[in-house]
Amino acid sequence: MCRLARLARLPGLDDMSDMGDLGGVVLALGGSTGDSPTAPPLAARDSVVRLTALIRRLAELPDPPRLWIASRQDGPAAATTGPRGVLRAAAYELPRLTASIIDFTSGTDLTEVAADILVAHPVIEISWRDGVRHVAHLRSGSPEEPAAGSRPLIRGGSSYLVSGGLTGLGLATAQWLAAQGADHLILVGRSAPTGDAEKTFARLRESGTVVNVVQGDIADSAVTARATAAAGERPLRGVIHAAGVVEDATLANVDEDLLHRVWRGKAEGAWALHTATAGQDLDFFVLYSSLASLIGSPGQSMYAAANTFLDDLADWRAARGLPATAIHWGAWARTGRGQHLADRGFVMISPEDGTDALGRILTAGHTRVAYSPIEAGAYAKGFPAVAASELLAEFGLAGDDGDSALLDEVLAAETDGRRTSLIQDHIITLTRQILGGTSQHIGPATSLVILGLDSLCAVRLRAQLENSLKTSIDPGVIWVRPTPAGLTEWIMNRMGLRSGEGAGA
Ligand SMILES: NC(=O)c1ccc[n+]([C@@H]2O[C@H](COP(=O)([O-])OP(=O)(O)OC[C@H]3O[C@@H](n4cnc5c(N)ncnc54)[C@H](OP(=O)(O)O)[C@@H]3O)[C@@H](O)[C@H]2O)c1
Repeated sequence: MCRLARLARLPGLDDMSDMGDLGGVVLALGGSTGDSPTAPPLAARDSVVRLTALIRRLAELPDPPRLWIASRQDGPAAATTGPRGVLRAAAYELPRLTASIIDFTSGTDLTEVAADILVAHPVIEISWRDGVRHVAHLRSGSPEEPAAGSRPLIRGGSSYLVSGGLTGLGLATAQWLAAQGADHLILVGRSAPTGDAEKTFARLRESGTVVNVVQGDIADSAVTARATAAAGERPLRGVIHAAGVVEDATLANVDEDLLHRVWRGKAEGAWALHTATAGQDLDFFVLYSSLASLIGSPGQSMYAAANTFLDDLADWRAARGLPATAIHWGAWARTGRGQHLADRGFVMISPEDGTDALGRILTAGHTRVAYSPIEAGAYAKGFPAVAASELLAEFGLAGDDGDSALLDEVLAAETDGRRTSLIQDHIITLTRQILGGTSQHIGPATSLVILGLDSLCAVRLRAQLENSLKTSIDPGVIWVRPTPAGLTEWIMNRMGLRSGEGAGA
C-alpha cells in the first residue's frame, strides 16, 4: 500500500478542493534538521514525505495555487534539503504547479522572508544567510587545469574508502585511485563482488594495491565502523561515497518503500560515513551526487531529493572546515546506471574523462560542482517551467518554450480532418523521439502503452504536447486514451477545435 497517500489526509489537506480561490500555500517545515530529535537524514526524508503528499493534492486542483516551502536552516541539512530535489523534479512532471523555496538562518528578519513570499516570483530558490539574501543560480564553466606543482592527491601508506566501490562509477574510481598511487583500497557494497570485479581486483593486487572488500550496508553504523577500522595501520585519507540506488517513478507513483530504497544508501550512508570519520585527518570526502538534484529530472524526484542531502552535507562540512566535495555527475558511458541515457541524446562522460575531472575537481578544492556536459537548452526543451526557473536564468532559456508553428498550422487548417492529422502526426513523431527512434509502426490506432510508453515517457509526451499546442492536458488522459487517435480527439475537444468537417477554424 502507498503510505504517502495516508499522509495526504493530514488535517487541512482534505479541504483543499473547497478553496477555489486559494492564492498560495506555504509549507513551513519545522526548523533545521540540526535540532531535530531524529538523525538529519531521517528528518530530511520526513520533509520529503510531507511535501510529496501535499504536491499530490495540489496537482489534483484545476488551477493549483502557488507553493512556497519555507524553513529555518542551521544544521547539516535544512528541512528544505530533500524537498528542494522534489521540487526541481516536479517542475518537469507538474508544470502547472509553481513552487519556490525559501530558507533562512536564525536571526533573519522574518518580515523580509514574508515580503519575498508575497511577491509573485517565478520558480526561485532564496536563502537568507546572516541577513544577506542569496538566489540560487547555475553557471556553466570548464574544470580548471591543475596548477603547476600542485600537491599530489594521493599519499603513500594511506587508505582510501569507496562506498559502492564494487561496481559502476565506484569501481572505476577505485581503479583511478590505484592508478594515482593509492596502495590500500577499502571497497564497500552489499552484494558480493561479481566475477568481473574480482578480475579487476586481481589486476590491482598484482600491481601492488591492497584491496579490502567490506560487504554490508554503508548506512549501517556497524558496517561503516568495520570499513573505517579496515584502514588499520594505514590512516584513512580519502572517502568517496558512490553508493546509491537509482529507481525512477513519477510523483504520482512513488511510495515510501521506493523512497526508503533510494534514500538509504545515499543519504543515510553519507551521514554514517560523516559520523564514522569524525576526527580523522582526511584529505578528501567526496559525495557522488547527480545532475538530477541540480536541475531536476522527470521521474527522479526521490533520487533528486536523496542527492540534495549529499549536496547540503558537503556545504555544511565545508563551512566547518571539514573536507567536502559533492559532484553533480552527468551520465557516464560504459559503466554504471546511466549508460542507457546515450540513447536519449545525453552527452556521455567516458570513465577516463570522469576520473580525470574528479582529479581536477579535487585539486581545485571545489565544494559543490557539476560535471555534466549537457546542452541546457536541449535538456529543458519542452519543459517551459524548467526553462523559466530562476536557477537557469543565466542560460537564457526562458521564453524559448518551443516552436508554436504547429499550433499556428492547426488553427489555420480548414477542416477537422486536417487538424486531426496534424495533431496525430505530431503525437506519433514525439512518441518516436521519446521512445528512442522505435522502428515499430505507429499508426493512429496503435496503443502507445503496448508500444512501451511508461509513466516517465508519458510525462515527456504530455509536457511536449502542452508546450507545442499551448494547452493543458490532464495527467491521466494518456492512459485512458492511449492511441494517437484517442489522444487527438481528447485534445481537439479540450481546445474546442472541432467545428464540423469542412468548416474553418
Ligand atoms: N551512472 C551515472 O551516470 C551516474 C550519474 C550521476 C550520479 N551517479 C551516482 O554515482 C553513484 C554510482 O552510480 P552507478 O551508476 O555506478 O550505480 P551502480 O553501478 O548501481 O553502483 C552503485 C553501487 O552502490 C552500492 N550500494 C547501493 N546501496 C548501498 C548501500 N546501502 N550500502 C552499500 N553499498 C550500496 C551498489 O551495490 P549493492 O546494491 O550490492 O549494495 C552498487 O555497487 C551513485 O551514487 C549514483 O547516484 C551516477
